[in-house]
Amino acid sequence: MSDNSANLTQKEKIALLPVDFENVLGEKISPQLSGWIENHPFLYSSFSRAERDSWLLKIVKTINDYNVIPAGEHRLSQWEMGWHENLSTLEKSKVVSALIPRYFGKYGAVRWKQDLIKPLSVDFEYNMLAVIEYWLFEKYLKDVPSIYEFGCGTSHNLLRTRQINKTASLHGCDWTSTAEKIISLLKEAGLEKNITGHLFDFFNPDNSFRLEPGSAVYTVAALEQAGQNFEKFITYLLSNKPKICIHIEPITELLDETNFLDYLSIEYFKKRNYLNGFLHFLRRLELGGRIKIHQAQRTYIGSLFVDGYSVVVWSPVGV
Ligand SMILES: C[S@@+](CC[C@H](N)C(=O)[O-])C[C@H]1O[C@@H](n2cnc3c(N)ncnc32)[C@H](O)[C@@H]1O
Repeated sequence: MSDNSANLTQKEKIALLPVDFENVLGEKISPQLSGWIENHPFLYSSFSRAERDSWLLKIVKTINDYNVIPAGEHRLSQWEMGWHENLSTLEKSKVVSALIPRYFGKYGAVRWKQDLIKPLSVDFEYNMLAVIEYWLFEKYLKDVPSIYEFGCGTSHNLLRTRQINKTASLHGCDWTSTAEKIISLLKEAGLEKNITGHLFDFFNPDNSFRLEPGSAVYTVAALEQAGQNFEKFITYLLSNKPKICIHIEPITELLDETNFLDYLSIEYFKKRNYLNGFLHFLRRLELGGRIKIHQAQRTYIGSLFVDGYSVVVWSPVGV
């Protein structure tokens, strides 16, 4: 087993097991997903009080740092640059691990059940998000004919959907042209054949770009970048009537602002101008009979700065 825990005693290492994920997700998970978790060790240890304090200090200092840049329309070139690094690695290696965004595992701490823990296993943070994805993709994407990820970045999530649905046409939509280039290269290199890239901007949705009938749509840590400007995108989705829409995003409404770590997460959302008012907006649409919300829950899983992987699943009414 490869991990960073050589100097710790067995007692100091703790492992997340399938049942731990069932507890935070509030549901039984499939035998396939349980098997996947067992094959991808989630070893971690607790922080001492001093270590925890130093991480908390880092979060607070970041929230108060004037140099931290909020999300918004001006960020396009930064995303192009970030994904270009993954594109270059993919060009050289032609292996899908080149697609993993570099922000995973950047810090030696992640959030689990409203606490900070110290990951020991390799790819711990990336794999925690993978568990949430597998859980939702198995539930909602198995039988759909086409799958669209909006704000797809390097398309590594879309390749995960392929493990769940062997035949769907896959569509990666992003405002960066580099995301499209990555998809072209994935096809050229024979890593995925049935995938198409599309330029798409949440701030200015192209209404001539139509979704295939019966399709599924999802976003992962992408609509967060739209701040309060998500309405045009939701209007776009409503006019296309997808079968199901899944979001794994930071959702303030689902956190507990009386809990200190949740409170810091909410403050960080504000600092970065992340998604704001999204669930309230969807709930108003549901009250008006326009949509049905199937699921809205936090996952108690997150990165150092945010509990950012809450889940909202909905469908337009009358599809
Ligand atoms: C944190 S990354 C997540 C990427 C991918 N969903 C993932 O999970 O790896 C945010 C993504 O949102 C995209 N994005 C940001 N603003 C956008 C906008 N206005 N329209 C479309 N995509 C946008 C970025 O280019 C980037 O790919």
